[in-house]
Amino acid sequence: EKAGFDHFMLKEIFEQPKAYRNTMMGRISDDGRSVELKEIGMTAEQIRGIRKVHIVACGTAFHAGLVGKTVIEDLARIPVETDVASEYRYRSPIITPDTLVIVVSQSGETADTLAALREAKRHGARVLAITNVVGSSVAREADDVIITQAGPEIAVASTKAYTSQLIAFYLLGLYLAQNVGTRDEAYVTDVLMAMNELPEQVERILDSADVLKQIAESVAKHNNLFFIGRGVDFAVAQEGSLKLKEISYIHSEAYPAGELKHGTLALIEEDIPVISVITQEGLYEKTLSNIKEVKARGAHVLALVNAGHEEEVGKSVDELFSIPKTLPILAPALSVVPLQLIAYYASLARGNDVDKPRNLAKSVTVE
Ligand code: F6R
Repeated sequence: EKAGFDHFMLKEIFEQPKAYRNTMMGRISDDGRSVELKEIGMTAEQIRGIRKVHIVACGTAFHAGLVGKTVIEDLARIPVETDVASEYRYRSPIITPDTLVIVVSQSGETADTLAALREAKRHGARVLAITNVVGSSVAREADDVIITQAGPEIAVASTKAYTSQLIAFYLLGLYLAQNVGTRDEAYVTDVLMAMNELPEQVERILDSADVLKQIAESVAKHNNLFFIGRGVDFAVAQEGSLKLKEISYIHSEAYPAGELKHGTLALIEEDIPVISVITQEGLYEKTLSNIKEVKARGAHVLALVNAGHEEEVGKSVDELFSIPKTLPILAPALSVVPLQLIAYYASLARGNDVDKPRNLAKSVTVE
């Protein structure tokens, strides 16, 4: 049932192009100009009445929510807070009837996420769930449900569920924007056209798995490293760091690139790997100057960079991996894939049980 792959995780990483296509399927109008989310019961008037959005989730789903915040704020201009469910439910969050609470959960059974959903409903908020499992607790209790069509995810480390959650957020962000009127049809069409290219672009990244294997094998020799990025690149950096920790057991930290000099730089020493995600136009110069800071202290820098910027970034880094060109907000759906593969191959190089990392369960139904 691993379809010729050594592990479920690798199989699921390679299933991402299909998961993207399936999650988009039936949700885009025939003319390709608008998003249709028939599963959402909110009227246009109700959508226009949303004053703020809370995104609540755990782990990898939380990291998808960090990207979701940028996507919804950018497209629909509605303020969004993203919170870890186990924090949200105990901090007396300000939930009003005009708050839309979005819970994100692959399994739909995570105890803290479910409790956050109930807390939101108790305060009269509408709850929208993004989940991979039809009929799960979260799906049953939410007012609206977007099912990610990733297919069953077996490996403990989430990959295709995360990227399908990103696709769901792009669709939702566009749908909200259409209803609120923040984006015109031409803009929506451009984003949808770029989204259509994502599956094939992921395939191209997967074709370079060998290159990433080599990078991972050198990463696996270290016990500490950093991931840096700005904006959605920082959100992806956090996901890359979690993925590496949970299956390779190598300690890493993700940092907003501009925050390094406020303390973390003290930990940069000779040869420490720093994986930097640089996909956001307009932030290149800023992140490059942070890279120069860590290079000056001896770090070994790997940059994930948009195609077309290799030369400019290549001068300042030790290794470079090029990501196909897409719109800035869509970049996470591509840039996370090499990080998943680095985590996978680093775990393999260390001889770990990739699909069943120590101390972890696929679904956390206890608090
Ligand atoms: C990490 C991972 C976990 C889950 C988290 C939430 O790879 O899989 O961090 O993302 O336990 O699980 P769900 O999405 O099922 O609520």
